[in-house]
Amino acid sequence: MKHALNFYNRIDPAVENRVENLLSQMTLEEKVGQLLLKNAFAPIDWGEVLRQQKLADERGEPFHISLELNPVILEHARAGRVSAVNSAEVRLNNRLQRTAVEESRLHIPLLVGHDVIHGFRTIFPIPLAESCTWNPELLERTAAAAAAEAATQGINWIFAPMIDISRDPRWGRVAEGAGEDPFLGMAVAQARVRGIQSAALPGGRRIAACPKHYVGYGAAEAGRDYNTVDISERTLRDVYLPPFKSAFDSGAGSTMSSFNEISGIPGTCNTFLLRTVLREEWGWPGVVVSDFNAIGELVQHGVAKDLREAARLSILAGVDIDMESGAYAGYLAELVSTGAVPVGRVDDAVRRVLRLKFNLGLFENPYQDETLADQVILKPEFRSLALESARQSMVLLRNKQNILPLPQDHKRIALIGPLANNRADLLGTWAITGQAADVETVLAGIQHYTEPNLIAYEQGCSLSGLESPDFSAAIAAANSADVVVLVIGEGAGMSGEAHSRVRLGLPGRQAELVQALAATGKPLIAVLMCGRPLVVPDLVKSVDALLVAWHAGIRAGQAVADLLFGAANPSGKLTVSWPAAEGQIPVYYAHKSTGRPAEGQGTTQYHEPFRSTYLDETNAPLFSFGEGLSYASFEYRDLEVQTPVVAAAGTLRVTVYLKNTSSRAGVEVVQLYVRDMIGTVTRPSKELKGFQRVGLEAGEERQVQFELQAAGLGFHGLDGKYVVEPGEFRIWVGPDSTRGLEGKFDLEG
Ligand code: BGC
Repeated sequence: MKHALNFYNRIDPAVENRVENLLSQMTLEEKVGQLLLKNAFAPIDWGEVLRQQKLADERGEPFHISLELNPVILEHARAGRVSAVNSAEVRLNNRLQRTAVEESRLHIPLLVGHDVIHGFRTIFPIPLAESCTWNPELLERTAAAAAAEAATQGINWIFAPMIDISRDPRWGRVAEGAGEDPFLGMAVAQARVRGIQSAALPGGRRIAACPKHYVGYGAAEAGRDYNTVDISERTLRDVYLPPFKSAFDSGAGSTMSSFNEISGIPGTCNTFLLRTVLREEWGWPGVVVSDFNAIGELVQHGVAKDLREAARLSILAGVDIDMESGAYAGYLAELVSTGAVPVGRVDDAVRRVLRLKFNLGLFENPYQDETLADQVILKPEFRSLALESARQSMVLLRNKQNILPLPQDHKRIALIGPLANNRADLLGTWAITGQAADVETVLAGIQHYTEPNLIAYEQGCSLSGLESPDFSAAIAAANSADVVVLVIGEGAGMSGEAHSRVRLGLPGRQAELVQALAATGKPLIAVLMCGRPLVVPDLVKSVDALLVAWHAGIRAGQAVADLLFGAANPSGKLTVSWPAAEGQIPVYYAHKSTGRPAEGQGTTQYHEPFRSTYLDETNAPLFSFGEGLSYASFEYRDLEVQTPVVAAAGTLRVTVYLKNTSSRAGVEVVQLYVRDMIGTVTRPSKELKGFQRVGLEAGEERQVQFELQAAGLGFHGLDGKYVVEPGEFRIWVGPDSTRGLEGKFDLEG
């Protein structure tokens, strides 16, 4: 089901009139006020809050932070000195809106933003996991459900989707995106914007999406968060910008500038990106908000000597709203009065903010009905959706001798590992308003299929503790069982913002636990929970089956059990490559050939052929983009390129037959890749250009058809302009980025 959606970036003359009318009445201070996002809350002891939350999580009890508004924010709302806040509670949000709308001179309502990244209270799998569904329609529904829950709290602006392409699993924020590929990234960006901005949210509310972080943040050097980014304009345009363009084409009303610098110029004062590309080339009239304190951080970047200079650089570059740095609040009016910033720049920014507020209907409908939450939050449809999403997100990567699914008449199970009976970590990295008490554990999920006396549960070791392990109870449990299900991996706090890692193996003593259990000789099934690709070659060698469950949200435990016991059939496929060793990073399928490709003859220089390889590791990742198994098996045959010659403005048509050769129904994600054989600039050795989820009954065969606009096969050429070059293309249709039936076609100029 596609949702009716709102476009918050169309220029409507009636709205423009209202904007101009209001703008003409504003003082300079009120204009600056419209460009400020401020903290709304009275100071609170966050250390204590986290302690209380941990206790509640351990007891499986719901936890609620009791935040109070800072009286200063109410004064600012009254005086028109704030435009936006970050807040998630309807009672407080209505109070703030009432103050702004009823007590300020111009009655301008507030933007109420929040980070609703993978669910509000119904926590869905982390975005990286959800991208592994290759199911944009499902992602649209989960984003719409999250928006519906958020809307009950008076939120009208969501700081999502995070659409940064990343090819570096060291970067903790790889968890928040859709992986390494721009084509899939575009589909995901569109789906999530459509979901967040869907019409018919509770109480007639509307919500604007804020695709972020514009741009290149996922290319941080060495995967260290906030680190330097240096990418060519071509790569920026071919790889990192396309998801943003898709998000804007889908109606996104705002975007967030990124913390990082790009080739020497921080995203928050990058005139080329914020003005030339966004405004002049794309003509996008939405709101740009800085990331948290990012204007202030121009001082640490070393491009501004103080906050005044930081404010000047950012407003001139095109950042409309200052999130919490105080630079605009402190200096923008003065910069205009002294002529350092033309008032026209401030007016343009205010226009964009007011346009968004009008488009959101906030002037007509600023308050939310405080009783709606009970009917919407965690409602059964959302809980089912979370289960559907969790089942589709998980990726089966190994299944020796079809050990999975476990037979219904299975015998004793040893369930072992620090995540087997864990709730809080299954929520994942961005679950501010999620509750550990809502999460189903894997233990509880398995109990739906197995008598309690047939399950021997042992934690085995802690998640990341380095204390001397005592595995004796876990080994005894394994010895008493017929099969061992190990639930291991990363905690929620090991990925996400400011949580990069350089060693991507299993944390703590978990790798030793795996070895100790492998030594029992019992069949081992590993369920790996994580917020990123891990580097786990030894684990893969030691286990009979490997299911990557990610951090899959409130229904994770049930979803794992449904997959282990075959009530659901795995269909997820990786959207980011899993390195065989950290030293391969970045490793991604769409790499270039190089002049001495690994699989070629190389060039014999002196006495031996030299190739682009390592002495101590293959180039191939442990698991490649697109990989993932099913309990069904599929066969591809008879790839036919129906248009062996395609005009640059034409359509490529390709068909293939796909057969389910097994005795159970299943879903295959059919993937189409191309390679432009000769280009004026080098081309990736493969590029995803199409995919479809195809469900087949046991034994069923079907023809799968792809239609692609040849216009989508171009790149940014010698002169930096987008070009579709004539010539030969190879094409592959198959189950992942490493395999497939091969064909070719010619593109005509
Ligand atoms: C993050 C953003 C987030 C913002 C507001 C920042 O630290 O980078 O993704 O939206 O905080 O919470």
